Amino acid sequence: MATQRLFFAISLPDEMQQQLVHWRADNFPAEAGQPVVAANLHLTLAFLGEVTPQTSQQLQTLASRIIQPGFDLDLDDAGHWPRPGVVWLGCQRAPRGLLQLASLLRAQAARHGCYQSPQPFHPHITLLRHATQPVALPPRGFHWRFHVSTFSLFASEYARGRTRYRALASWPLTSQDPHALLSSS
Ligand code: 2AM
Repeated sequence: MATQRLFFAISLPDEMQQQLVHWRADNFPAEAGQPVVAANLHLTLAFLGEVTPQTSQQLQTLASRIIQPGFDLDLDDAGHWPRPGVVWLGCQRAPRGLLQLASLLRAQAARHGCYQSPQPFHPHITLLRHATQPVALPPRGFHWRFHVSTFSLFASEYARGRTRYRALASWPLTSQDPHALLSSS
């Protein structure tokens, strides 16, 4: 049975992807690392690894039942992890809603035998890869905010030397039961 490499994530609004790409070009020299293309900028909630179609379907059913309001995400922190070679953008204080959503998705994935990251959840958007040499980070003071009102399941696909993330399904973050909304309309 063909497996897929899957992860739950929050995508960024198109215009924010563009803003971040410009900010990155202004703040990091070309030799700092390999820039992640705009369309691939995202914040991973839970990485699942290789997953069978059956497990994928079960996790999608559970995801569709999550009832949780949206939240604001403040991107005001950056860092460098030299070992995986990642330069990232994140938040100084992760909103409770983000931690709650990630922890639920990670627990559901673990119960279905998916890959479990040994690292604690550190919400981040990877900006540069292969950044294994010391990198000067921009001074604090940058700040983007956006409202997170959906989350998605993505398949990571590699073809012709490129990685593409394809959204398989998305769900709203709402404090009302989405099924109740549908049945009352
Ligand atoms: P990264 O950006 O920190 O590399 C698709 O590959 C997404 O899943 C990326 O956001 C990536 O995180 C994350 N990912 C890939 N491998 C992972 C792993 N072994 N543990 C946790 N997250 C991983």
